[in-house]
Amino acid sequence: MKTITIGNTVISVLSGDITAWTGDIIVNAANSGLLGGGGVDGAIHRAGGPEIMEQCKEIRKLQGGCPPGHAVITAAGNLDAKHVIHTVGPIWEGGGRREAQTLAECYRSSLKLANEVSARSIAFSNISTGIYGYPKSPACDVALKAVTEYVREDQDNRLEQIDFVCFDSDNLELYMKRLEQYA
Ligand code: APR
Repeated sequence: MKTITIGNTVISVLSGDITAWTGDIIVNAANSGLLGGGGVDGAIHRAGGPEIMEQCKEIRKLQGGCPPGHAVITAAGNLDAKHVIHTVGPIWEGGGRREAQTLAECYRSSLKLANEVSARSIAFSNISTGIYGYPKSPACDVALKAVTEYVREDQDNRLEQIDFVCFDSDNLELYMKRLEQYA
């Protein structure tokens, strides 16, 4: 594990399955329909149980889904967390469709929503770097920049623990190598 501290917030890189993480908020890499899927979305719904999908369906009824870059929040079901935040990353189309801005917005939207529910700890999966095909190296820099800038600049931030939970070795290596550049 590697960590940096910015103000009162400790930012860490962990290896493992985010469904085994314990804390306030787990951030899911969802799709705009909030329909569930494979990857981390599938893992979270499998481990969390039907309550999460029921609340996703309610949100879909109310607002039709979740546009890329935005985030919604549900219960965490059987997961050892208080909430799951579902954010929708950009599908990689070569980099010319504002993918970086949308990906950064995923992290900012999730952090804002976490602070709205007075969370103190949050775990991010590596949004868009699986099925959505975002190259892991640039995605790592977008994520680290967006999160550290938010922590430095947002007066409302009360998060004390922000974890990047890396499931695959490529992401783990990238985050472990680059985290300290953002201290
Ligand atoms: N814990 C943590 N991270 C995980 C886990 C897990 N259990 N399973 C997969 N991951 C990681 C992958 O290694 C990848 O780095 O999550 C990251 C994001 O990959 P995806 O889950 O494929 O998400 P994404 O690329 O954002 O694509 C989203 O995939 O599952 C569907 O419904 C989802 O349509 C949406 C799309």
